[in-house]
Amino acid sequence: MSPLADSPLPVARTVADLRRQVSAWRADGLRVGLVPTMGALHEGHLSLVRRALEDADRVIASLFVNPAQFAPHEDFDAYPRGEERDAALLAGAGCHLLYAPQASEIYPPGFATTVTVSGVSAPMEGERRPQFFAGVATVVAKLLIQASADVAVFGEKDYQQLQVIKRMARDLDLPTRILGAPTLRAEDGLALSSRNAYLTARERPIAGKLNGVMAQLARSVAGGAAAAAAEVQATAALIAAGFDSVDYIEVRHAEDLSPLGPGPIGDAPARVLAAAWLGKTRLIDNMAV
Ligand code: PAF
Repeated sequence: MSPLADSPLPVARTVADLRRQVSAWRADGLRVGLVPTMGALHEGHLSLVRRALEDADRVIASLFVNPAQFAPHEDFDAYPRGEERDAALLAGAGCHLLYAPQASEIYPPGFATTVTVSGVSAPMEGERRPQFFAGVATVVAKLLIQASADVAVFGEKDYQQLQVIKRMARDLDLPTRILGAPTLRAEDGLALSSRNAYLTARERPIAGKLNGVMAQLARSVAGGAAAAAAEVQATAALIAAGFDSVDYIEVRHAEDLSPLGPGPIGDAPARVLAAAWLGKTRLIDNMAV
């Protein structure tokens, strides 16, 4: 393992190197944290590293643009990449090791296993991106097993993904504790995301309005409005704000993501989840009710 040029961060490229380092830390009695990423890092990812440092003595960030979670028409080739920049940001945030494997290390020839999580994977993102959660669950299961970390931190920004990963870790008795960390937002409320880089100057201010529309929906249903009617209003508000189309904006049970409504949601823990298109960019976001 050697650091990248101009970066003090050591890089593991193979499972064997990763495990050697983790074993050495464990032999010293240190707790290990993992932050899985696909790179194109921003302040939101760095906040995950800082969250991991609260529960772990040593933090590994993985950087792997996982082909299995992209459909053929999606942005796998265009997905922003820049390992040296990412490594420098991670080092600055206090990360101890970058795990950046090649695709052949994660999916060697003959690879034939897929992890699927039913129920929580099915609605919303699962309907629009049928391959997505199996791709995520498979790679995250591998990363958790490879790193054998004490804790792993994922952003609440991808809230359905977080619930899928928690379900998978529970169901497979993976010993790593899965932690969610709050979404970081720009001043106008836009959730930080690597895909915000795709927004044009015209689209960027419109994107910030998603947060306000979600907050209005959360307030309405918390105040006793019927969920179905409030969701229809929220969809209309997004279109009026300039979004090109809305995949969904819904109120769901905060853990199993089952639908709440169509009437008042009562006392159930609830979450607003939304996905909407602005030009070529698909924004997803969520908020507690
Ligand atoms: O959220 C992401 O960046 C990815 O889905 C993850 C969890 C790193 C798996 O590839």
